[in-house]
Amino acid sequence: MIPEKTRDLLKKFGQEHLLRFCDELDEKAVAELIGQVDGIDFDKVRGLYLEAAGETKASSGEYVYEPLPFKDKSSLSKSEIEEYEKAGADVIQSGGFAAVTMAGGQGTRLGHNGPKGTYDIGLKSHASLFEIQCARLRAASQKFGKVIPWYIMTSRENDKDTREFFKTHGYFGYPEKDITFFVQNMLPMVAFDGRIVLDRKDHVKEGADGHGGVFAALKSSGCYDDMVKRGVKWVFVGGIDNVLLKMCDPLFIGFGEKSGAKIAAKSLVKRDAKEGVGVFCRRNGKPYVIEYTEISGEMAEARNEDGSFLYGDAHVLMNLFSIDAITAIIGGNDGLPYHVARKKTQFVNEAGETVVPEKPNAFKFEAFIFDAFEFFDELAILRVDRESEFAPVKNKEGEDSPASAKRMYEANFGE
Ligand code: UTP
Repeated sequence: MIPEKTRDLLKKFGQEHLLRFCDELDEKAVAELIGQVDGIDFDKVRGLYLEAAGETKASSGEYVYEPLPFKDKSSLSKSEIEEYEKAGADVIQSGGFAAVTMAGGQGTRLGHNGPKGTYDIGLKSHASLFEIQCARLRAASQKFGKVIPWYIMTSRENDKDTREFFKTHGYFGYPEKDITFFVQNMLPMVAFDGRIVLDRKDHVKEGADGHGGVFAALKSSGCYDDMVKRGVKWVFVGGIDNVLLKMCDPLFIGFGEKSGAKIAAKSLVKRDAKEGVGVFCRRNGKPYVIEYTEISGEMAEARNEDGSFLYGDAHVLMNLFSIDAITAIIGGNDGLPYHVARKKTQFVNEAGETVVPEKPNAFKFEAFIFDAFEFFDELAILRVDRESEFAPVKNKEGEDSPASAKRMYEANFGE
């Protein structure tokens, strides 16, 4: 039985096709489908579609780009290092530090069957990505005599498997009460004709709303309130797929604390002009990350007098947010903007047949964490060494693969 309000809603937004096959489904499947439909913010989705399809335009305007200053870790003096490490240690010891791991991605390129954090890159210990990160937090908690609260963002697709994985592995020896899982939001994919995609007769095709969804999810899950209650001052937010990620780096925390800025980020020197990474800059005066898909050839190639890139600092998801910054971001009415990707996605056509398209057929909407940088005037950047801090697991083989990550991990920590 389809509730009247659901029918009306679908009619209003021209999405009646979503329930077209209900007659063929059993009661449970219908109830689940209706639950999915009721969870969709149709107004928001329509706005995103119209913008993606070019029917309305977000303010475009001219942008002025400038380099964003950074501090190179290798150029810090002994006394600066001591000063930062001491300030960072004070924050951690007083319970003012928390870590967030964003593990809601689909890991499409890796093609692993299960949450990416459960992946075993082939170390002798067979530690999964989750275990590798947990070990670093455990070591820091022991060193500073304070358990670091760990918040792990999952998606609706991988939440259950992630929780089970932790449970099966005894939370890797970390106190269970200090690990909190929270689920990020999803947004439906929308076909180029404006109709939300039904990928099965009983299922709407939805995708996680990007790593920028972390702020809204921290708020809606109550994790933000928990941080405030615990007296957290600084929150490190990183991805799950970098096996060299320093989850709790006192020097970096102290650097953030002493910078006077509300946010800080680590950067790496861009390998070459074409590397597929976003780089830090200022856009119209505000800190910004310009994606490799957006940067002009001229800007990507621009050099300083010494031959280094003018825009040479890559953003690789190693960010530190003060609680004040998070408060400001989640309090903003507009939230983060969404970026649009054109994807190929399976759908059920009017005749009820499953179609696997050969060309992109739908829009996917994702928010990016670095769009939050523009809310602030300053962003403190610490340039760090790639070899000791960045070994991502993105692709099945070749560059940024389990094999390259394993090699780099072993070069740093031994077998
Ligand atoms: P990527 O953008 O590299 O995506 O995410 P991915 O899911 O790991 O891999 P592909 O692109 O599908 O192959 C960088 C980090 O952000 C997290 C990921 O889990 C990863 O830690 N992320 C990404 C989320 O938590 N949610 C998202 O919606 C997207």
